[in-house]
Amino acid sequence: MTPVHLAGPRLALREVEPEDTDDLLAIYGDPEATRHLSFEPRTREQVQAITARSIAAANASPRTEYCLAITRLGEHRLIGYARLATEPQEAATIGFALHPAEWGKGLGAETVHLLCALGFNVLGLHRIWAARSPLNEASGRTLLRAGMTEDGRIRDHVFVHGAWRDSITYSILEREWSSNGVLGIAGDHEG
Ligand SMILES: CC(C)(COP(=O)(O)OP(=O)(O)OC[C@H]1O[C@@H](n2cnc3c(N)ncnc32)[C@H](O)[C@@H]1OP(=O)(O)O)[C@@H](O)C(=O)NCCC(=O)NCCS
Repeated sequence: MTPVHLAGPRLALREVEPEDTDDLLAIYGDPEATRHLSFEPRTREQVQAITARSIAAANASPRTEYCLAITRLGEHRLIGYARLATEPQEAATIGFALHPAEWGKGLGAETVHLLCALGFNVLGLHRIWAARSPLNEASGRTLLRAGMTEDGRIRDHVFVHGAWRDSITYSILEREWSSNGVLGIAGDHEG
């Protein structure tokens, strides 16, 4: 496995480590951070299992899942969690969450850019898509800001908080993706 390391102007993506559990718990255990996600706030044991699964997925061959720690550039501490899962037809779905203390600084859009850089530049994909809760305006604006296009609505996509919930979906195609050095994304991952 070649570890992923991608860097933008302010953020980097790296592989998850067991020591990330408490920093991830600060996000996945937080009711505000998980309000619009497809699951209830997680316990420490559940987050520990997520870090373990993330590490196992990184070592799978072929690798289909990239569960990565978001850090500040040049720092090691996890401030967010990003996921890209490949699908047939050269596609992938992405998901991401930042610690609430980091919201509103443009880091969400940079995270999506880094995931697109992974999908298009490193993995050679054709299409990347994401789904958000209809109430998750921050995510919708983040995905648009990152250059994605709203595709539509999946009805009753997720059962969460005791009810079925629709999702609004977004996508970006390889030909629409142009990092053009604007974000200065660099990486040393080779697949
Ligand atoms: C979604 C999330 C990553 C956004 O991160 P962020 O760093 O705050 O977003 P950015 O600062 O990059 O802002 C991107 C856009 O969203 C807008 N935005 C941010 N928070 C917002 C909010 N609470 N309500 C409405 N718009 C919001 C910004 O104004 C900006 O819009 P603009 O491009 O029109 O200026 C962050 O809120 C988060 O981690 N939420 C919890 C997990 C989650 O919902 N993940 C997405 C799952 S689909």
